[in-house]
Formats: sequence, structure tokens, C-alpha cells
Amino acid sequence: MSQRRRTAILISGRGSNMAALLAAAADPAYPAEIALVLSNRADAAGLARAAEAGIPTVVVESRRFGKDRAGFEAAMEAELAAHGIGLIALAGFMRVLTEGFTRRWSGRMLNIHPSLLPAFPGLDTHAHALAAGVRLHGCTVHLVTPGVDEGPIVAQAAVPVLAGDTEETLAHRVLAEEHRLYPAALGWLASGRLRLQEGRAVVDPAPGPSGESLRNPG
Ligand code: GRF
Repeated sequence: MSQRRRTAILISGRGSNMAALLAAAADPAYPAEIALVLSNRADAAGLARAAEAGIPTVVVESRRFGKDRAGFEAAMEAELAAHGIGLIALAGFMRVLTEGFTRRWSGRMLNIHPSLLPAFPGLDTHAHALAAGVRLHGCTVHLVTPGVDEGPIVAQAAVPVLAGDTEETLAHRVLAEEHRLYPAALGWLASGRLRLQEGRAVVDPAPGPSGESLRNPG
């Protein structure tokens, strides 16, 4: 197969989506190679999981930079460059990125968000979904643009909201879908099937065994 795309996963915490991406990328046929896990917090639990899987990890502590977001991002860029990174997957990365950073990585950086965007951007999505009384909730993978949780939608998965749900039970149901959806979406990006068309994300059909499209163009 063609060269796997060297991908960094950026985390701040537990790293369950990171683990799902690592599991997918353990298959040599998966089009992304996870070449770096970068955390902005030294205490992120995901770092140990990544190290156990033999993935290079690095900490760029955002709090060391205070309000200097450009300095923080320059330090991250240096690590990304040193590891030859071409794609980024944000996975529970809790820092808002500057316009400059998002523009430099435009079309090459994905995020997963625990709601059916554009509903419930920002934090505490499960609490907001319960408070709004929606019957369907879910998760979204999107390309990252300067507006937080606003980039072109790549993939979504929905789950029912059930009577008696708490934030925890709902989060648990959504997270199972996140772990399924994110590896699929990163695979599309890494294999070149994901492109932007008039500001929307388009996923091209997978080529067949001999390279032809599986979808009948007629
Ligand atoms: C996930 O719910 C993800 O959608 C959101 O942050 C959470 C991270 O969880 N962006 P984990 O660290 O991947 O377990």
C-alpha cells in the first residue's frame, strides 16, 4: 500500500479515543500511522496508555506558557515537525487553538466532539442534551477551523436518549460510538478520500481491489 500518513494525536486526559485510534492503526493496512501522542498536561492518563503501546509521547505543558498561546503552539509545532507529522487528530485536547495554527493545519486536522453538531458546541454536552430533552444525541467528527466546534462535518453517529439517562449513562453510550466513528474518519482523511468542496467535507467512495470506484457512477 502507499505510505501511511504520519499522524499525531493530541490529548489532555484519559485518552479513550486515542486508544481507539491506536487500536485501528495497529493494523498495518490502516492508512494512518500514529507517530506521536502529544499532551498539554503531564498528568494525562492517556500518556501511559500510549507509551505502553510503544508510541512516542511528548508533553508540551500549556500552563508553562500562561497566556502566550503563540509560544505554546510554536513549541507544539516544533515537536510535530521533529516527528515528521502530516495529520493531527484532536482527542479530548482541551486547549482552544489559534486561527494561525488551525489555518496551517487546515484540511489536515480532525476533532471529535460529543454531540450532534451544530447542537451543543462547547463543554458539558451531555448535560445540555438532557436539559434540552432531545431524543437523539451523539458525536461528530469534523475538520478543525478557527471557530470552536464549527468546522466541516465529516461523520456523525446518533444514539437514543433513554428515560432515566444520567450524564454518565448518556456519555457512556455516546463514547462507544466515538470509538467506532473516529478511526473510520481518520482512515478516510489519511487515505485521501476526504476533501473539501465548497466548505463541506466530502468522502469519496473507496476504490475497489483493482483501483476502480466501488460506487456505480451511472
Ligand atoms: C470525548 O468525549 C471527546 O468527544 C471529547 O472529549 C472526550 C475525550 O475523551 N472531545 P477521551 O480522552 O478520548 O477518553
